[in-house]
Amino acid sequence: MTPLLIDTDPGIDDALALLLAFGSPECRVEAITTVAGNVEVPLCTRNARRVVAVAAPIRPPWIVEGAAGPLARPLRTATHYHGADGLGDALPPEASPPATAPGLAARTLVETARRVGRMLTVVAIGPLTNVAQALELDATALADIGRLVVMGGAVDVPGNVTPTAEFNMHVDPEAADRVVAAGLPLELVPLDVTQRVILARAALDTALERAPQRLADFVSTFTRFAFRVEAAADHPGLTLHDPLAVGVALSPSFVTFERVRLEIGADGETRRRPGPPNCRVALAVEAERFVPWFLERLCRASSS
Ligand code: RIB
Ligand code: CA
Repeated sequence: MTPLLIDTDPGIDDALALLLAFGSPECRVEAITTVAGNVEVPLCTRNARRVVAVAAPIRPPWIVEGAAGPLARPLRTATHYHGADGLGDALPPEASPPATAPGLAARTLVETARRVGRMLTVVAIGPLTNVAQALELDATALADIGRLVVMGGAVDVPGNVTPTAEFNMHVDPEAADRVVAAGLPLELVPLDVTQRVILARAALDTALERAPQRLADFVSTFTRFAFRVEAAADHPGLTLHDPLAVGVALSPSFVTFERVRLEIGADGETRRRPGPPNCRVALAVEAERFVPWFLERLCRASSS
């Protein structure tokens, strides 16, 4: 059973990724650290708590609030897609949990890395601010984990927030640069593969018929907003960016990796560069196999 630490900015696809983890018997979510990205970090923390409350895992993970903004630039959010509250603006209002001490997420990353070591897989599905701050605290501990799976980047395809940059890398390029340069066991799951993994509303609705009612209602409610945004743009469904990163953490065979040397540009571009590789990049994906696998586990994310 693989211990996971998930660093996340929930966010609709992040919430689906968390539920995928809770519905997967191969892993145990040790901790969830939140980071400002799709929405402000207190909302990310509240949304993570909402997902955990619905999943109701036997051993609930620590939920620790992290960086309120990028290392060296103002925060840019994605509320146009995720809603003002980060989960589609359709759930009953809920007070944000009390703020935790700054830097606690970075300390949680380091302490979990020290405790679990090579068995640990960290899955980072938001901007890399917390991971970069953890490197400041103890780069050796982070270098000794098993895998760091990151959803981010656009290597041979256009970006989704600028013509050349993907959102997570664009929000905090300084953090991404430190992470790529740190010699970590880095596996990048970029737009090159995630944009090929599309969840159609009809497929989700059919799958949710098999899920417990509370889980089905929760997922159907928080995804409605994003499905409307996608439909307005004539897109066929939701892009499962973050669920694919969790999927790769649990079953790397969904993708084909290439060892690549990447450089992070000033705006978060992820450019190929000559020289020794500094990461593995997923450049092909078995999307037709992943989506049903994802749906089957999503519907098992909660037993009640
Ligand atoms: O570019 C996609 C990424 O940005 C995903 O992690 C999504 O949640 C947003 O954070
Ligand atoms: Ca995310």
